[in-house]
Amino acid sequence: MSDQPNQSQEPPKPESTEQHAPAERAASMDSLDAHSELYAERTSGMTASEIRALFAVASRPEVVSLAGGMPNLAALPLDSLSQEVARLIAEQGQSALQYGSAHGVPELREQICEVMALEGISAHPDDVMVTVGSQMALDLVTRIFCDPGDVVLAEGPSYVGAMGAFATYQADVVHVAMDEHGLRPDALRQAIDETHRRGKQIKLLYTIPNFHNPAGVTLAAERRPEILEICSRHGILVLEDNPYGLLGFDGQTHPSLRAQDPENVIYLGSFSKTFASGMRVGWVLAPHAVREKLVLAAESATLCPPTLNQMIVSRYLSTHDWMGQIKTFQEQYRQRRDAMLEALEQYMPPGCHWTHPEGGFFVWFTAPEGVDTKAMLPRAVTNRVAYASGTGFYRDGLGSRQMRLSFCYPTPERIREGVRRLANTLNEELELLSTFGSNGQREISGPQAPSPDTA
Ligand SMILES: Cc1ncc(COP(=O)(O)O)c(C=O)c1O
Repeated sequence: MSDQPNQSQEPPKPESTEQHAPAERAASMDSLDAHSELYAERTSGMTASEIRALFAVASRPEVVSLAGGMPNLAALPLDSLSQEVARLIAEQGQSALQYGSAHGVPELREQICEVMALEGISAHPDDVMVTVGSQMALDLVTRIFCDPGDVVLAEGPSYVGAMGAFATYQADVVHVAMDEHGLRPDALRQAIDETHRRGKQIKLLYTIPNFHNPAGVTLAAERRPEILEICSRHGILVLEDNPYGLLGFDGQTHPSLRAQDPENVIYLGSFSKTFASGMRVGWVLAPHAVREKLVLAAESATLCPPTLNQMIVSRYLSTHDWMGQIKTFQEQYRQRRDAMLEALEQYMPPGCHWTHPEGGFFVWFTAPEGVDTKAMLPRAVTNRVAYASGTGFYRDGLGSRQMRLSFCYPTPERIREGVRRLANTLNEELELLSTFGSNGQREISGPQAPSPDTA
């Protein structure tokens, strides 16, 4: 697999920080856990994501992984970056290696405002708080707003890491349907009515308007004000998660929800996809009073985000052509998206359909009737291709015919080969289905390998 960058290093980890054991091992470890009676009730909602569990298998070199969401960092200017980092420590080491404020390094917060201005946001640096990736912001926002049983509305499908945060605070996720133009306002109204009828309080609408993870779609401009109006009328805060917004393939950006309703939108941003995910630098922009609460919550979580990393990002922004770098990323990911869409067109059997992303990392794929993508995964891995099966992106069991295909990390050649292997797997599956029906298919695919996503 000579075309896989970082192959000789420890494999990168997409939406996780650790690998997890299969279900059986986890269960037996649980029974050996002398403290199992002591855990807080909220830990029962904490389960390994299907993607995380899959990671150990999918990162084998012979497998083309279309599963993870690792950015492709091969184009970063590592030489000049390392010189900048050395200079930073030599010149400002005393402060770069010291504690900082929970709010974040002031200079970086100012630069973040310049980054957000690209999407029409006018913000004061005081209202920005730096976080350890936007994942930390997801955790903190949920922590300060959600009591057990509160409802968070989220697109169906939705980002696994966000649903993990909601589950940790025992909030219930109610999915809102999307189409190729993103979240559907009629479905939003219906979800709100039904949830209120059940007597539940809705705290947040969690949405990824641009180049959605995992659906690959973008919220249409004309729907944005309507969605904001619905939420504001019902007293629901909008949590806008926008890590991919600057990765539109023709350089286009979309006016952010925050720009249209500063008082009712909490905006999350990240340098993970536009610079380096390992820096773990993201941010939250919130109405002033909310931001104050977030700083208190952040203090208790981490005291402060890593000063060194913040200063590295700040230096990168001031000394490098970061806009040019984003253009390079856009071009690379566009080529990979094209490779994936062409290969899907060329190899996939009839009855499949998929989204056509205009930015970001992901294609959302729907297999023909009867296919269960989770049950099919062991066969796919045997055929040396991996994907993220659809059910992991829902809290309510939907998504069994769907899968997320990532085009961000493998080279275009690997993507084409991966899609070819996936099409072969699907054809085998369809043949089995036509011979045995769906029950037969499950029995046959089950024992081939332990399902990597059951942990
Ligand atoms: C939609 C979405 N939100 C948040 C995150 C977390 O990003 P970060 O690396 O900034 O924590 C990701 C990462 O894949 C993502 O796809």
